[in-house]
Amino acid sequence: MRVSDVALGTGRACSREILDAFAHAGGTFIDTSSAYLAGASEETIGTWLADAGRDRFVIATKYARIAGGNHRGAMRTELETSLRRLKTDRIDLFFAHFDDGVTPIDEIMRGLDDLVRAGKIIHIGLSNFPAWRSASAAALADVRGWTPLAALQLQYSLLSREIEREHLPHARANQLAVMAYSPLAAGQLAKGALPLVDTIARELGTTPIAVALAWVRAKDLIPVLGPRDAKQLAENLVEVSLDATHVQFLDDATAIPHGYPYEILDTVRSSLGIVAS
Ligand SMILES: NC(=O)c1ccc[n+]([C@@H]2O[C@H](COP(=O)([O-])OP(=O)(O)OC[C@H]3O[C@@H](n4cnc5c(N)ncnc54)[C@H](OP(=O)(O)O)[C@@H]3O)[C@@H](O)[C@H]2O)c1
Repeated sequence: MRVSDVALGTGRACSREILDAFAHAGGTFIDTSSAYLAGASEETIGTWLADAGRDRFVIATKYARIAGGNHRGAMRTELETSLRRLKTDRIDLFFAHFDDGVTPIDEIMRGLDDLVRAGKIIHIGLSNFPAWRSASAAALADVRGWTPLAALQLQYSLLSREIEREHLPHARANQLAVMAYSPLAAGQLAKGALPLVDTIARELGTTPIAVALAWVRAKDLIPVLGPRDAKQLAENLVEVSLDATHVQFLDDATAIPHGYPYEILDTVRSSLGIVAS
């Protein structure tokens, strides 16, 4: 499945104006959830898609927040609601929105596989799951011959880099796409929270927003944008390319301690001359 290199998030706001502007700029990847804006996000996208052309866009939506967890019943109920609101016969990328901590991972993956076989969803994703749970999901699907896990959706920005410890190595090992939500740290990076971002933006003649989003893209992740309106969207779509030095400065300035056991692994690997991927 081919998607634009950024996704339009619709959790904070969703309007025909924003959707038109995203499509006009070449965007094809739209992220929603059964829970966003109490259902109005999916409703607005569905009405808009009927005019804009369903097949031109890749739609990701999520279940688990409305019908009470990850179990099959919730999965089916919320999927039917999403299909109806989105006025479509299939979801391109269907996520479990959160891990409820109790539904067995084989129930989730087998339930999602059934929905793929029924033609109601095309690809499967997990959002906000602990890495060990999504790694189990990927392995289980592989050994059982079920539809593979395709994507993770996780919080990631210069101010929130926790997923570097486990999720990103897991995603690389399992060839999963990663959608990075809150790439501006829920707006903090648009409001001067990190002076180095502002300095680099001045140096490159661009905006702090463009720099913060370019850093996420430099990690081969897909930022999920969260504009309030079409003006904010336009500012989010300004592209700048960071060179390796800028990426390294930003990496160093916002690095988090990886802690045990990763720091031991780094020491051992470096003593053996192994560069971890
Ligand atoms: N899977 C999940 O659990 C999950 C969780 C959260 C989000 N998401 C997805 O990710 C999307 C993006 O998340 P997010 O909204 O937190 O992203 P974000 O880009 O980190 O934050 C969006 C906020 O940044 C500020 N902003 C953006 N552009 C701006 C501009 N040009 N000028 C000034 N301020 C600007 C706005 O704050 P103000 O509102 O203060 O103006 C906006 O509401 C959501 O819509 C949703 O699709 C998924």
